[in-house]
Amino acid sequence: MTVAWTRKDLLGLRDMSREEIELILDTAASFKEISTRSIKKVPTLRGRTVVNFFFEPSTRTRASFEIAEKRLSADTLNFSSSGSSMEKGETLLDTAKNIEALKVDLIVMRHSASGAPHRLAQHIRPGIINAGDGTNEHPTQALLDMLTLMENKGRIEGLHVVFVGDILHSRVARSNIWGLTKLGARVTVCGPKTLLPVEVEKLGVRMCTDVDEVIADADAITLLRIQLERQQEPFFPSLREYTKTFGINRDRLKRAKPDLLIMHPGPINRGVELSDDVANGPFSVILDQVTNGIAVRMAVLYLLSGAIAKERNEDVDPIASDPGR
Ligand code: CP
Repeated sequence: MTVAWTRKDLLGLRDMSREEIELILDTAASFKEISTRSIKKVPTLRGRTVVNFFFEPSTRTRASFEIAEKRLSADTLNFSSSGSSMEKGETLLDTAKNIEALKVDLIVMRHSASGAPHRLAQHIRPGIINAGDGTNEHPTQALLDMLTLMENKGRIEGLHVVFVGDILHSRVARSNIWGLTKLGARVTVCGPKTLLPVEVEKLGVRMCTDVDEVIADADAITLLRIQLERQQEPFFPSLREYTKTFGINRDRLKRAKPDLLIMHPGPINRGVELSDDVANGPFSVILDQVTNGIAVRMAVLYLLSGAIAKERNEDVDPIASDPGR
């Protein structure tokens, strides 16, 4: 079934339908080719202004959005709280209203507070893309993870995807759980009991505290970093013990399927959640995930920009709006 895209915001996968997720993935697949050209630029977002509003550190997401915007010919502005009037006490909403007054079209936002992009979306006109909000969601990361699964496995339906690590604080795990279960994958979350959310099984996933029990049956394993910056108190005795119990190394993978995929959203803590030889080894698609991030973000920017054009009754330039041009 094809679905018409109508959203001006991408806040999370929780409220999105299977058809909407599939539309983003199909659109992203068609955008991949642009990054293989010698001139990696199309006029699709010509005349649009996108602000990258990052209030938390980021390497991959920020760079990937900026590259996606430039490949689509958007005008971009990078904005962070440091060096802005937020340091003088201006609120997030006042800052956002001032950005809105500059007549921007889309805001890509990362914030340490869960729900911050949802609040902005209620109060300002530009489209909002959630680039990670606290421990809530990181929708474009989950979408690029799903695109990587589709590319390598040809499907998502019926796959067994295992997440190992700090599930409690992981917006990546949360968005993946919403997305993967909607698309028919089987999801297991694995880690120390203290880092598994209470009643996580109600989200339709299996819970496990013994990583060796799930390795043989996994089609993909996503390792998640222990987010010490979000932990006010220790959740397990030591990182050394965590690595011994949950760290993925070559020995542990002896029982894995030959076509297992090892995934990681980054940043990696090498030697903690996974060993060097696994991070760089034949199962790893970690850098393919990063590459796929560009196409996914191009697709999201393109779809949201189209919805904004419709909402404003703008004339759409048929050449600029063709993703292949
Ligand atoms: N995966 C991810 O969100 O990485 P960054 O924090 O570097 O953006």
